[in-house]
Amino acid sequence: MNSNPYLQQMKGSYLFTEIVNRTKAYTASHPDARVLRLGVGDITRPIPEPLIRAMHEAVEELAHGGTFRGYGPEEGYEWLRQAIIEHDYRPRGIDLEADEVFISDGAGSDLGNLSELFAPDNSVAILDPSYPAYVDTSRMAGREIIFLPSHAENAFVPALPAQKADIIYLCFPNNPTGTVLTREQLQQWVDYARENKSIIIFDSAYEAFIEEPGIPHSIYETEGAKEVAIEVRSFSKSAGFTAVRCGYTVVPRQTGLQGMWLRRQCTKFNGASYISQKGALACYTPEGRRGILDNLAAYKQTAQVLSDGLRSMGYDVFGGVNAPYIWCRVPQGYTSWSFFDHLLNECQVVCTPGAGFGASGEGYVRFSAFSKREDCEEALLRMQHVK
Ligand code: MLT
Repeated sequence: MNSNPYLQQMKGSYLFTEIVNRTKAYTASHPDARVLRLGVGDITRPIPEPLIRAMHEAVEELAHGGTFRGYGPEEGYEWLRQAIIEHDYRPRGIDLEADEVFISDGAGSDLGNLSELFAPDNSVAILDPSYPAYVDTSRMAGREIIFLPSHAENAFVPALPAQKADIIYLCFPNNPTGTVLTREQLQQWVDYARENKSIIIFDSAYEAFIEEPGIPHSIYETEGAKEVAIEVRSFSKSAGFTAVRCGYTVVPRQTGLQGMWLRRQCTKFNGASYISQKGALACYTPEGRRGILDNLAAYKQTAQVLSDGLRSMGYDVFGGVNAPYIWCRVPQGYTSWSFFDHLLNECQVVCTPGAGFGASGEGYVRFSAFSKREDCEEALLRMQHVK
């Protein structure tokens, strides 16, 4: 047996694992410390009751002879795929067929698994900084990576790749910088992909945080995107399904990849659970929608509290408006990891070091607004005292 040489060569641990490990080490030596976790983008508010009720009912169905069911369709139940088209796409003028929508066990798995659709020698363009799974997945597959630096000077919107990139990962609203693209900016990426016969994997996990008018919610709001873009969405960041696991991926037939993705899923994936799909369906009821909007409003307020508080302390702050992440420049004399350690040791505050998202993230840290508002207020107070 020869192990995967690319995976074997990968150094260090996954970013969020490293943060958990450092936090654990700190709490082990400071058992009385109240650590405030503003690091990973995980939910802190309960899942809305209508969604929970739908999942309870689904569990109950599985308990009885008349309603019990076994395996579902690998691509997900048609009732959920139709609801997604009806509520998430049709109102934006986007027409999709049910067989172009694939229910997943969360965006994270699909963002990695989609890599299997492409030839091993395909190059990948990835924004730097970016969600670390794109880089890690591409490294595991031994692909050439073209990094596209984004920084304050280009308003965190990198230039198009100078050379041909076969696969392009885009995430807007962006994790970690919180940047959004206008329709015109997004159109440029789609035009590039059409000219170069590339494919865009568009991570739209934070779409529900878009507030400002004119910002596209889906890449299919641009012309020609159905030929060149796969869109990955999540119920985690909107409905709070980080523990439930449910998302979906749109693979339009025009990409030429829809049949291949179905083939791959049927072989390797037995479908998302019936229970989580019933929970996801309840997101599209009026009362489910209200519960989701309430939670989103609370996280958006937290983003505002964090941005305002950091700004008032003199920090350079980006994002936090159409996104749950606040991207913050570290004070002079710190690296992003040394500032992470400083905040953990002196303030018992956990953030995410920008360098963990890529070389261009050096000099920044990210704060997550998925945190509790009172924790954010407390974190800001503590930071004021040690500044
Ligand atoms: C994060 O950036 O905190 C992530 O989105 C967490 C995740 O969903 O993997």
